[in-house]
Amino acid sequence: MEKNSRIFVAGHGGLAGSAIRRGLQRRGYENLLLRTHAELDLTDQGAVRGFFENEKPEYVLLAAAKVGGILANDTSPADFIRENLEIQTNVIDACYQGGVKRMLFLGSSCIYPKLAPQPLKEEYLLTGPLESTNRAYALAKIAGIEMCWSYNRQFGTKYLAAMPTNLYGPGDRFDLQGSHVLPALMRKALEAKLAGQRTMEVWGTGTPRREFLFSDDLADACIHLMCLPDDVYDGLLNYDDAPLVNIGSGTDLTIRELAELILRVLDFDCELRFDPSRLDGTPRKLLDVSRINRLGWKARTELAEGIRLTYDSARAELEAIVNSQKTTQ
Ligand SMILES: NC(=O)c1ccc[n+]([C@@H]2O[C@H](COP(=O)([O-])OP(=O)(O)OC[C@H]3O[C@@H](n4cnc5c(N)ncnc54)[C@H](OP(=O)(O)O)[C@@H]3O)[C@@H](O)[C@H]2O)c1
Repeated sequence: MEKNSRIFVAGHGGLAGSAIRRGLQRRGYENLLLRTHAELDLTDQGAVRGFFENEKPEYVLLAAAKVGGILANDTSPADFIRENLEIQTNVIDACYQGGVKRMLFLGSSCIYPKLAPQPLKEEYLLTGPLESTNRAYALAKIAGIEMCWSYNRQFGTKYLAAMPTNLYGPGDRFDLQGSHVLPALMRKALEAKLAGQRTMEVWGTGTPRREFLFSDDLADACIHLMCLPDDVYDGLLNYDDAPLVNIGSGTDLTIRELAELILRVLDFDCELRFDPSRLDGTPRKLLDVSRINRLGWKARTELAEGIRLTYDSARAELEAIVNSQKTTQ
C-alpha cells in the first residue's frame, strides 16, 4: 500500500476498525475512504456497488460485521448469520468487480472447532463441530474465508482472511447484554468499586481459558499483512490451503485470572462470586500465532497495560453509565 492509495476501512467506527483507521493515519496514509453504517449500509448490495464504482478503492480492510458477546450470539443467531453473510458477500464481490488489489477479511477465532487441539492452528479449520453458542456467526465467517479462497482460485484475486483472537481496547462496548467478557468485567468491577461492594459476580465458572489482544496491536498486524512484499503476500495465497492467518497475543489466562487482573488495574479488591448457571463457552481458546510471527509480526501490548489504556480511555463513559444506573435504581 502506498501512502496515497485509496483504502476503504469498512467498519471504521468499531473496535477493530477504529484501531485500523488510527494505525493507518498514524503511519501517514492520507486517502482513507470511510463511511459510517448510516451513510453506507453494507447489507445493501446496490449501495455497496455504487460506493465501489464511485470511490474506486484499491485496498480494503473489512472490519464491519454484526458482532456481539455470548448472550447476543445465543439469542439472535438469525441476525448474526444473515447480516454477516450479506455484508461480506457484498463487499467481497464488489472488491472483485472493482479490481481491488488486496483485501483483508476479518474473521474470528470462533471459526475453529470447539474441541480442537490447542493452540489453534490455521489448518484446524473445518475439522470438527463448532461451539453451539455462536455457530451461526462462526459459519458466516467460515463462508467469508471460503469466499476469499474461491475468488482467489477462480479469479486470481488477492484476498486474505485474518482471524483475530478476543479483542479489547478504546471504543469497546460496555453494555452488559451485548459486550464481550473483558469490557463486561471492567464495567462490573467499576460498579463494585464505586458502590464499595464486597463481592463481584462473574458469569460462568471462571475456569475457561481465553486469549486477548489489544485492538491497536490487531491494527498493527493488519497493516503489516497488507504491506507485505508481493512474493511474501502471494505465498499466503497458496490455493491448496485457506488463505488464513491467525492474529493473537500467543498467551491465555482463565476468566478468574482476568477478573483478578482487572481488579488490580482498578486498584480495588473484592471477592469474586461465580455464577455457573451462565454459559461458559469453549473451555479453551488460544491461537497458534507462529504463522504471523514468521511473517515478522508479534503482539506488543501486555494485558495489564492494555487494560489500563482501555480503562483510561473509557473512564468517563463508564462512570457516567454506572452513575446513571444508580439514579434509575
Ligand atoms: N471484538 C472482538 O473481540 C473480535 C474478535 C475477533 C474478531 N473480531 C472481528 O473483527 C471485526 C470487527 O469487530 P469489532 O469488535 O470491531 O466490532 P464492532 O465494534 O461491533 O464494529 C463493527 C463495525 O461494523 C459496523 N457495521 C455493522 N453492520 C454494518 C452494516 N450493515 N453496514 C455498515 N457497517 C456496519 C458497525 O457500525 P454500527 O456500530 O454503527 O452498527 C461497527 O462500526 C469483525 O469481523 C469481528 O468478527 C472481533
